[in-house]
Amino acid sequence: MSYLLGCPLILLEAWISGVQTFPVIRNLVEQIDCLTILHCRFCHLKHRLAEWINKSLVICILRMNAKDLYQRITFSMINALVEEGLETPFVFCTPKVVKNRVTYLVKRALTELRKQGVPSYFQHAHPIKTNYHREIVEAAFHAGSWIEVGSVMELRLIEKILENAENKDELVIFCNGLKLPSYLESIKKLQKSEVQVIPVLENVVDARQVFRAMPSDSPLGIRLRVPGSRFGLPYPYLLDFIHSGDLMSSRIKLLQVHVTDQTFLFDAQRKMISNLKAIAYEINIEHVEFFDVGGGIPQGLTQQQDLEMLDHYLIQMSEFLRNLQEQEVVFPTVISEAGRWVVSAAENLVFSVIGKEQEVGEEFWYYHVDGSFITDLIDAFLLDHRWTVSAMLPHKMTPLSVPMEKVYLSGLTLDEKDVYPDPSRNDPLRLPPFDESPYYLVFGNVGAYQENLRNMHNFHVPRPRVIFTEDGEYHVRQTAFVDDLLSRFGW
Ligand SMILES: Cc1ncc(COP(=O)(O)O)c(C=O)c1O
Repeated sequence: MSYLLGCPLILLEAWISGVQTFPVIRNLVEQIDCLTILHCRFCHLKHRLAEWINKSLVICILRMNAKDLYQRITFSMINALVEEGLETPFVFCTPKVVKNRVTYLVKRALTELRKQGVPSYFQHAHPIKTNYHREIVEAAFHAGSWIEVGSVMELRLIEKILENAENKDELVIFCNGLKLPSYLESIKKLQKSEVQVIPVLENVVDARQVFRAMPSDSPLGIRLRVPGSRFGLPYPYLLDFIHSGDLMSSRIKLLQVHVTDQTFLFDAQRKMISNLKAIAYEINIEHVEFFDVGGGIPQGLTQQQDLEMLDHYLIQMSEFLRNLQEQEVVFPTVISEAGRWVVSAAENLVFSVIGKEQEVGEEFWYYHVDGSFITDLIDAFLLDHRWTVSAMLPHKMTPLSVPMEKVYLSGLTLDEKDVYPDPSRNDPLRLPPFDESPYYLVFGNVGAYQENLRNMHNFHVPRPRVIFTEDGEYHVRQTAFVDDLLSRFGW
C-alpha cells in the first residue's frame, strides 16, 4: 500500500469525479482501515473540502507514516490492548515523533535560512509546558533541543534530566515566566553548574524582580513586546533600564519575540524591524548571541497541511531575518521554541463509542463516548479546537457502500457543554454507523497541552498511556492512582 501513502488527494479526486466504481480504486479504498473525517475549518483546501463534505462524501485518507512524523494507529493495535485488559480511554504516546520532528524542523529551517543568505545557526529550544511526560521531554533533549521553562517546578524537572546527562555544557536553558523568589533561587543554583541558564525578562515587574535578586553581571534575555501583544518588555522601558544603569547592556544574551497566537506571527514581528535596529544600536548587539522567534507554529489537521504550514512559517521567518540582516542586524543563533508543532502529533487519544441516540425529527445523532471534551480534550471546550478524528471498526471499512451518519459526540460528564463539535456551528462529524460492535474513535495530534490543562471534573483523571519505544514495542503506564488522588483531597 505504500505507493498510495503520498496521494490521498489523487484518490479523492478520482472518487469525487465519479470514477469510484473503477475496480482498482474501489479495491484500495476498501483496504483503508482508518477513516479520517477532515474538518475544513483550517484547511488550505477549505472551499473544495466544504463542497465535498456538503455532498455528504466522506473523505478517507490513510494516516500517513511518511518521514516518521506521525504514529499510525490501527484497529488491531487498539483491540489487542483492550483484549489484554486495558480500558479506553487511553493515550498512545510516541516519543520518536518528537525526536524526528525536532530533527526535521532544524534541517528545514537551516535550508530556508541559507536560501535567504542568512548565516545564523538554528536551534530548537523545547518548551516543556507542552507535555511533562519524561519520554517526551527526553526525546526532545536527545534530539539536541535546548529547553525553555516557565516555573520553578519545570526547572526541577530539568534538574532531574541533568542528573545523568552528558555534555551539559552544550545545553542552554531559557527561563520565562514570572520570577518568584523560589524560581530565582533555583535559577541561581543551576547557574553554578556547567549549564548555561538565562532568565528572560518578561515585563517591567519581572525585570525588577530579577534585577533585585540576580548578580549585576549575570546573563539575561529580554522578551520584547511585539506590537498587538500585552506581553514582553516595551522598548521605552528597555531603554530606561539601560540608561538608568539597572541593566548593563553587555548582560543581554538573548532577544525573544514570542507571540502565543496560533496564526502566522511574522506580520507582527515584521513591524518590529525598525525597533530591532534601534535596539541593536542601543544595546551593542555583538553581545547578543541568541535571537528567539518563540513558538506559535500551528499544527495542521493532515500531514500535508502540517508540513505546508511549517514551510510557510519557516519561509516567513527566514525572510524576516534576511530583512533584519539588510539592516545590519545579524545574530549568531536563531532559536525556535515551537511547542505544539513538535509535540502534538506524538500522541493520539482513544475513546470508545458506547451507544447512540437521536431526537425525534433530527437528522443527526448523539454518539456517547467514554471520554470527555471538558476534561480530556479541554481545548475543544476552551478554544473550540478541532481534532482529526478517525473511526476504527472491527471490520474493514467499505466507505463506498456504508452511508455515513451525521454525529455529535456526547462526553462522559453529560455536561451541557461536553459535546463535540460545538453544535451551534452546525458542522457535525460524518461517521460510519455504530452498531453495538466495538467502535473506537482516535483523536490525533493531542500531545500538546491537553493533559497539562485538563481538569478533574466528575473526578475523571488522567488516562493511562501506551508508550512506544524506538523499536516499536510498547509498555503501559498508569498516570492516576486512586489512593494518591483521594489523599490529595484529604481522604
Ligand atoms: C515562551 C514560550 N515559548 C514557546 C511556547 C510554545 O508555543 P507553541 O506551543 O504555540 O509553539 C510558549 C507557549 O505558551 C511560550 O510561552
